[in-house]
Amino acid sequence: MIKVKDLIYTYPGTNKPAINKISFTIEKGEVFGFLGPSGAGKSTVQKILFKLLSGYSGLAEIDGKAVKDQDKTFYEKIGVGFELPNHYLKLTALENLNFFRNFYSSSQDPLLMLKTVGLEKDANKKVSDFSKGMKMRLNFIRSFIHNPDILFLDEPTSGLDPVNSRIIKDIILDLKQQGKTIFITTHQMHDADELCDTVAFLVDGNIMAMDKPQNLKLQYSKRTVEVMVENELTKHEFFLNDLGNNQEFITLVRNKTINTIHSKEASLDDIFIQVTGKTLA
Ligand SMILES: Nc1ncnc2c1ncn2[C@@H]1O[C@H](COP(=O)(O)OP(=O)(O)OP(=O)(O)O)[C@@H](O)[C@H]1O
Ligand SMILES: [Mg+2]
Repeated sequence: MIKVKDLIYTYPGTNKPAINKISFTIEKGEVFGFLGPSGAGKSTVQKILFKLLSGYSGLAEIDGKAVKDQDKTFYEKIGVGFELPNHYLKLTALENLNFFRNFYSSSQDPLLMLKTVGLEKDANKKVSDFSKGMKMRLNFIRSFIHNPDILFLDEPTSGLDPVNSRIIKDIILDLKQQGKTIFITTHQMHDADELCDTVAFLVDGNIMAMDKPQNLKLQYSKRTVEVMVENELTKHEFFLNDLGNNQEFITLVRNKTINTIHSKEASLDDIFIQVTGKTLA
């Protein structure tokens, strides 16, 4: 559905490429996540794909057609949730949605959409009186008011409280169920882990690792098991390999009361630090 090959992009007036020859493919119905520190180039790649930036080299293709050759129907097919909400502040939430609906040949009921993100009571409130989280939720539903097949969501849960973040993630999972192709960027590793079929770690315009979260976690795992026993403060750590023949482990589990026992799977945060040597922004 989305194909990028050897993509290079340098912002006008700068001499270092923001995107440094990256390649990836997103299949139809897949949720693909870009993870990476601030300034890595995540938003830049999305902007190229929804035609906000031109002058790149390499291939950027959507639905079998180069982005630069897409015609007006392109914007019926894709939905964009920008990083920073850009609403008409003097208009109400409902007026904002109605305004955007007019650009499309068909659209969903704005009041129903507001309800899905808990904003039905605020439909007639001016957006200037909205909190940051309310603006984010409005920004999110606006991105798919025309029921597009492909969604670009730039940090959809950024700055949301846990309840609203959960609501947005459930809607994203629901959109995935409907077969939508979704390209998200996020700093929230837990969200990426939960939502994404594939994640790519982007650092300084380069993809440093890309796979299913589960595969990455296995690949980067220390393959150890950590055991805590009653009345002891220190943890015991054993390699998973040949654990059944590890006498020290067997003696421990036979003779002591076990409080906790966990295999030490790497988290996406751990992987990020290992892959890039940087901490998350
Ligand atoms: N309009 C612009 N002109 C020049 N350089 C830019 C412009 N927009 C972004 N950049 C640079 O391109 C690089 C990538 O920026 P981008 O916005 O894609 O990062 P990001 O990964 O989305 O970061 P964040 O997580 O903070 O949103 C950065 O070094 C940034 O300074
Ligand atoms: Mg960004």
